[in-house]
Amino acid sequence: SQLHAFLHALPKCEHHLHLEGCLSPTLLFALSAKNNIPIPSDPSYASIATLTERYNNFSNLNDFLAFYYRALDVVVSVDDFEMLGWEYFTIANRDGVKHAEVFFDPQSHTSRGVSLETVVSGFDRACKRAEKELGITSKLIMCFLRHLPVQEARVTMDEAVKGGYFDGEESVISALGLDSSEVGFRPEIFQEMYVEAEKRGIRRTAHAGEEGDPTYISGALDGLHAERIDHGIRLIEDADLMDRVIKEGIMLTVCPLSNVCLQVVQHVGQLPIRKFLEAGVKFSLNSDDPAYFGGYILNNYCAVQDAFDLSIAEWKTIVENSIQGSWCDQARKDELL
Ligand code: HPA
Ligand code: ZN
Repeated sequence: SQLHAFLHALPKCEHHLHLEGCLSPTLLFALSAKNNIPIPSDPSYASIATLTERYNNFSNLNDFLAFYYRALDVVVSVDDFEMLGWEYFTIANRDGVKHAEVFFDPQSHTSRGVSLETVVSGFDRACKRAEKELGITSKLIMCFLRHLPVQEARVTMDEAVKGGYFDGEESVISALGLDSSEVGFRPEIFQEMYVEAEKRGIRRTAHAGEEGDPTYISGALDGLHAERIDHGIRLIEDADLMDRVIKEGIMLTVCPLSNVCLQVVQHVGQLPIRKFLEAGVKFSLNSDDPAYFGGYILNNYCAVQDAFDLSIAEWKTIVENSIQGSWCDQARKDELL
């Protein structure tokens, strides 16, 4: 696309990336063979090509999530989790990512009998290796699956606390998130855990306003004291709430290719990118689940440029906001600015 080299060179921060969403059909088949765990017999899984084709035809968030959770059966050992994390960091490095705050879904593993310790150890190894070998700094964000009973989130949080992973911003898990099926699973349900996270000095974000209406966004701000909103594109439907988000400097973590793949919009040009820029809504651009949605972060930057033909000054605003909206310390921000 136009400005491709310029976009590639920008010092990118990623804030909306599910490590489990980096499990490509190729890696799925490789781990299935390595671990001797069968691939589902459903015809979509007949080959890497048929699975890739199916991934190009999601009808909505829940249709995608069924594939996302199912693929994880082949990921079992600490090495597997490290490999999945490393898959992300190597490609992110190629795309010019300098700092990444990445999600993981412990309940999608503990429900299969994989311990929290296995998951966290593998991902943490990948993060440490990324810093050492690639110079990419990172943070882990533990997400609750909102379609599961709140009691299971409680158990997950207690386990994270007991394991010593979850006490202040400098712990192995430095932030809390909320993901999975949105409509019908309001943010406020998880208030108790978010209040506790705030007391523990843990950062807070939540998926809201992807498929859900703007009351899911206000629910995450009021009920959870979320400091960022993941997706949040339906903010454009509520002018008063948009004014509040601008005043409070809340950053949205927007995922353009994801929104097209899950049919939240029909094409990238329908996203309120230009409206957000003009109004002063801060946002970063991110890849969400790159193995499923046709591209990592640079593809998302390029898709936005192709749709909106932004100026260099506008790109500087986006990049500066994504650095300033990161949860790294000021010294790291100054290096990136
Ligand atoms: N939305 C909700 N849950 C998710 C997503 C998403 O985009 N990706 C992985 N889990
Ligand atoms: Zn997401």
